Amino acid sequence: MSPAAVSDPGRTVLVSGNWKMNENHFEALRLVQELAAMLRVSGVPDGREVSIHPPFTSLRTVQTAVETDKVPVALGAQSCHHEMRGAFTGEVSAEMLAKLNVAYVIAGHSERRMHCGETDALVRAKVDAILVQGMRPIVCVGEVLEQRQSGQAEPHVRRQVLDALSGRSAETIGSVVIAYEPIWAIGTGETASVEDAEQMCAVIRDEVAKLAGPGAAASVRIQYGGSVTPESAGGLLDADNIDGLLVGGASLDAERFVSIVRATR
Ligand code: 13P
Repeated sequence: MSPAAVSDPGRTVLVSGNWKMNENHFEALRLVQELAAMLRVSGVPDGREVSIHPPFTSLRTVQTAVETDKVPVALGAQSCHHEMRGAFTGEVSAEMLAKLNVAYVIAGHSERRMHCGETDALVRAKVDAILVQGMRPIVCVGEVLEQRQSGQAEPHVRRQVLDALSGRSAETIGSVVIAYEPIWAIGTGETASVEDAEQMCAVIRDEVAKLAGPGAAASVRIQYGGSVTPESAGGLLDADNIDGLLVGGASLDAERFVSIVRATR
């Protein structure tokens, strides 16, 4: 691996809550109000940033609550369409999200790759749309269990990174977020060990270094996602190449999510 692939020690850690298809409009409002109350007391630790990713139907409500109450979280979305506008019934464009002050958009979550047929080419087109609108993509990559068992996890993840990011400037690549989410660890209660997560995040950073140089590799932020809990978060965040967490189930409980935001080893 390239010796240049090291994380910037001064980088801001990003903890993101992916609410998936949970929380109707009323529940979303209650959840963001609970988060606001808790973060008002405890704050977000220095050097950390938080984003929350509600379903589309709650974005406007959550945006209003976050801005009115000055909640220290960034607004995120879970996906977007790759075209800017047009006859795409049921879809939501990146421009529509940008107009709601969305800062981060997840692209290529494994559930969308699996259930909605999203290909690497489509994920790349979504990353384009997100960047054009001045938002930051959180590009999800990760292997299934059979790939891990057959030694194919690393080449698979390297290829996913390349397919989404190649051909862009070093500055752009350094500004994105990559989430390593091993599919076998999502929603299963089986968190990857800190060693396994750190090893693959180092591989991802190495791939970014090869693609865009050491500066981009130092500033790109690499999250781990997959059954993260308040108990596992501190150890994961302590790893050299893990710059944040993408949290599913535990982000639906304000107290657990705030514990993760504040987690230390
Ligand atoms: P869980 O934390 O529920 O395993 O979900 C992880 C995930 O897919 C976040 O995007």
